[in-house]
Amino acid sequence: MELEDFAKPGSQEADLLKRIDKKRLPKHIAVIMDGNGRWAGLRKLPRVAGHRAGIESVRDIVESSARLGLEALTLYAFSVENWKRPRSEVRTLMNLLKEYVRLELSNVHKNNIRFQAIGRIQELEESVRTELQRAMNTTKDNTGMLLNVALNYSGRAEIVDTFNRMFREVKQNGHKAPVSEELISQFLYTSGIPDPDLLIRTSGEMRISNFLLWQIAYSEIYITPTFWPDFRRKHLLEAILEYQRRDRRYGGI
Ligand code: FPP
Repeated sequence: MELEDFAKPGSQEADLLKRIDKKRLPKHIAVIMDGNGRWAGLRKLPRVAGHRAGIESVRDIVESSARLGLEALTLYAFSVENWKRPRSEVRTLMNLLKEYVRLELSNVHKNNIRFQAIGRIQELEESVRTELQRAMNTTKDNTGMLLNVALNYSGRAEIVDTFNRMFREVKQNGHKAPVSEELISQFLYTSGIPDPDLLIRTSGEMRISNFLLWQIAYSEIYITPTFWPDFRRKHLLEAILEYQRRDRRYGGI
């Protein structure tokens, strides 16, 4: 996918794109998509209308990120804690996910994007797992951007799963060299993917909400008041521009 016709000449997007240094793009962006409920509330609509509207933002941000040439985009779609929501809302979210995967798969595949679901996927209902598996199988050999969708995800649960996988490996194949950060990273759900350079959270909350706890150790955090259903490529470009203004020191001076 090319950057051409990414933005209409003279548009705000075109201007932002011009100001972005294409050689210093983040490799991996992670997004906490928040504010769907409040977006709907402001319009006197049911919360699920906000989730439905949020799908348009997912489409736009996935396409924009792939066009920019990111290595990976990770979207927080459903947390382990989200099961506490009313059953009807959980059902709608699961249906929207299936719908997104079903309707977007050909587009995702055409754009050379590799789809991956991360989280405790085995606990999701079968119809959701089937749809996710189909998308993962269809796109497994794609060489473009990796689209990670975090589902039934919790950062602490991921660390627990990581340790259990390591212990299993030790039991089967004997003791591996001393435990190191690199070794732990190899057993995470995100094994092989660079850590996020940029973490975006929409709707203004100043929280991490149990997302990618290990991986965001040195991520730049960008919080925007924009609600997720209003978040479009213009906002993504603004976040990248802000990221490029930051001075990443990784604890040095
Ligand atoms: C947070 O808003 C959003 C979610 C819990 C769900 C995000 C899911 C989608 C946008 C749809 C499916 C995703 C994909 C990848 C196809 P909130 O409900 O917590 O909003 P609030 O804080 O304003 O109540």
